[in-house]
Amino acid sequence: MKLFIDSGSLKDYEALAPLGIIDGATTNPSLLAKEGGDPRAIVKKICGLVQGPVSAEVVSTSAADMIVEGRELAKIDPHVVVKVPFTRDGLKALKALTGEGIRVNVTLIFSAAQALLAAKVGAALVSPFVGRLDDVGQNGMALIQEIVEIYRNYPFHTEVLVASTRHPIHIVEAAKMGADICTCPAKVIDQLFKHPLTDIGLSNFLKDHEKAQAARV
Ligand code: E4P
Repeated sequence: MKLFIDSGSLKDYEALAPLGIIDGATTNPSLLAKEGGDPRAIVKKICGLVQGPVSAEVVSTSAADMIVEGRELAKIDPHVVVKVPFTRDGLKALKALTGEGIRVNVTLIFSAAQALLAAKVGAALVSPFVGRLDDVGQNGMALIQEIVEIYRNYPFHTEVLVASTRHPIHIVEAAKMGADICTCPAKVIDQLFKHPLTDIGLSNFLKDHEKAQAARV
């Protein structure tokens, strides 16, 4: 399963990209707004740091404007994947941009029906938001299970990008279900590394080694 960073912060990319576990990135207008500055310049820098697909979202709402904006976003860098919201206009823009060879990620997916429609129109990626579903008392990961099952029944080329992840269990469950990608805030990626028994085990190994070395002198 591919692992993406869900962030607009260059610091997150600088810290995590060298670890060799990051395959791409997702941004959204809220994440980029937090950083200040020119969002497109930030996206360009992220592309340079991850060297993989980087989703950049349109802020237009009509299909015609999304198409124009999507073309501009795609010109930022060959790694850019244009993100459009799941709306009727978003699907029209998806069709047009895909027809021009631009890869499109359909975002704000909250139902299997939406994921099915986006795949039919040729989305490269769909972004179901699991954490936001959990927040309103629906099981986010159950949606991933449904989408993975539906996509397995047909020759779609759409990848399932699990978004709005909040903790390592989302990531592990997504991998067990066969989702293609998980995008995670840096904090969640940090949590994937942690296990107290690893820390205790290492500390004991080093102490034992030091004791043995001291005994040899
Ligand atoms: C995905 O591409 C979105 O940027 C993101 O995962 C949204 O997550 P949130 O629900 O934590 O804002």
